[in-house]
Amino acid sequence: MGIILQGGTIVTAGDVFRADLRIEGEKVSAIGLGLETAGDTVYEVDGCYLFPGGVDPHTHFDLPAGETSTSDDFFTGTRAALLGGTTTVLDFATQFHGESLAQGLSNWQAKARDKAFTDYGFHMAVTDWSESVAKEMDLLAREEGIPSFKFYMAYKNTLQVDDAVLLEAFRKAKENGAMLCLHCENGDLISDLTREALRRGERAVRVHPLTRPVAAEKEAVVRALVLAEAVGAPLYIVHVSTRDALEEIVKAKLRGQEVYAETCPQYLLLDDSRYRVDGFEAAKYVISPPLRPSGHQEALWHGLEAKAIDTVATDHCAFNFRGQKELGREDFSRIPNGMPGVETRLGLLYTYGVKSGRITLSDFAALTAANPAKLFGLYPRKGTLAVGSDADVLVWDPEGSAAVSVGTLHQQADYTPFEGFKMEGRAEYVFLRGRLVVQEGRLRDVSPSGRYLFRSRRSEVRGRKGNDGENGGNRKG
Ligand code: URP
Ligand code: ZN
Ligand code: ZN
Repeated sequence: MGIILQGGTIVTAGDVFRADLRIEGEKVSAIGLGLETAGDTVYEVDGCYLFPGGVDPHTHFDLPAGETSTSDDFFTGTRAALLGGTTTVLDFATQFHGESLAQGLSNWQAKARDKAFTDYGFHMAVTDWSESVAKEMDLLAREEGIPSFKFYMAYKNTLQVDDAVLLEAFRKAKENGAMLCLHCENGDLISDLTREALRRGERAVRVHPLTRPVAAEKEAVVRALVLAEAVGAPLYIVHVSTRDALEEIVKAKLRGQEVYAETCPQYLLLDDSRYRVDGFEAAKYVISPPLRPSGHQEALWHGLEAKAIDTVATDHCAFNFRGQKELGREDFSRIPNGMPGVETRLGLLYTYGVKSGRITLSDFAALTAANPAKLFGLYPRKGTLAVGSDADVLVWDPEGSAAVSVGTLHQQADYTPFEGFKMEGRAEYVFLRGRLVVQEGRLRDVSPSGRYLFRSRRSEVRGRKGNDGENGGNRKG
C-alpha cells in the first residue's frame, strides 16, 4: 500500500516533467505514469508542482544571544518551516567560550530532541579554539555526522576568531573532509566603528548599518578566499549581502577555487531604506550583515541567475520586537541581531524568483533543496525527487496569491520583515518521509517526528563512484 501523487509536474534541479510519484513507506518508490496499484491512496495534484522538500542550511533555533534567546525554538521554528514547505533544516549548534565542541553539541542535541517537526542536522559553530577543539573537529566530522563548521569573522569578543585559527581550521577541514562556513565581516572594523559612534553619542538604530559597511564584508570575503586558497580547502560563505562580495566570489570561482555562496531573501528583497523608517521600528531590520543600499539586491539576483550563488537560506534568527529588539532602545549595539524567515523562504523565492521570470523552476529546486543537500552531505537522500530518496515532497499549488502577514504565520515572532509582500502559490501538501504533515496549507494533527541527520563528509561523497543513496544515512539518532 502506497501513496500516489497523481497529475502533477515534478521539478528537480535537473528536470521538469509531468509524471506521477509513488511513495512507499518513507521513500519515493516510483516515478512515471500508470503507477497506481490496488490499495494505494491517491492524491490528485493536477496543476501543482512537486518540489523536493526544502532544505534550509542556515537557521538559529533556541540560540542564546546576550541578555536574551531567539524566540523560536526547535518546536516552533521547525513547525513554521514545515508549513512553508521546508522539510530539513541545518541549525548552528554553538560552542560558547569555555565549552568543548562536545558540550556545545550535546546542548543542541537536547534542544532539538523530540521537538523537531522537520528532519534536522547541525553545523558546529566554533568560537573557542584550542588543540583539543581541533581534534574534536575530526570526531564530529567522522563520528557524529557533522562535516561542516561555522566560524565568525565578526562579533568581536564573543564569537569572532582570528586568521590563525581560520588557517588551522581550514587545514583540519581539508584533512577530514569537512567544509568551513564563514560569516564574513571584518569584526575589528565593526567594533571600532561602533565604539566611535557610541563615543560621539550616536545611538539610534540607523547607525547600525553605518558600523557594518559594505567594505567590511568585502574585506572579510577576500581574506577568507585567500586563506582557503592558501590551504586548498573548500569554503562556503554564508549570507552574502553585497555586490562587492559577490564579485570577489565570482572571480575566485572563475580561477577555479572551490567556493560556494549563500544568500537569503532579506538581502534579495529588502534594502537599507528600512533603517530610515521613523522611530525604533527600524530595529526589526537589525541583522548582520545589514540590509544594503539599493542596487546590491539586483546584483544578487543576477548572481542567482548566473548560478554564481549556490543556495538561498534564511539565517532565521528570530526575536520579538516587543521585549527583545527593544533591549536596544537606548543603544543600537544592544539590539539582538537577526530576523525571522524560515516560513517564507520558499514562497518569496517562488514569487519573486520563478513567477517574475528571474529563475527557472529547476533553479528554484537547486537553490532551495538540491544544492544545500549536495554541499552538506545529504544528497540524494534529501534535495531531490528520485526513486530511493526520502519521500520529502512539497506539493506546491501555484494558484492564488496572498499578502505576507504576521497574523497568518507560525514563526514565533511578533513581526515579519516581509509584511505585505505578495506571495503567489502555497504549500498545499507536505510529506516528510512519506508522512502527510501539511494538508491544504495546515499542519496535520501530528507530533514532532523530525529525525537527526547524520551527514556524509565530502571525502566520502567524492570517493564514491556515483552516488548510491546511502549518503547522508541516519546512523545516529
Ligand atoms: O543577524 C544575524 N544574522 N544573526 C544571526 C547570526 C549570524 O550572524 O548568522
Ligand atoms: Zn552570520
Ligand atoms: Zn546566521
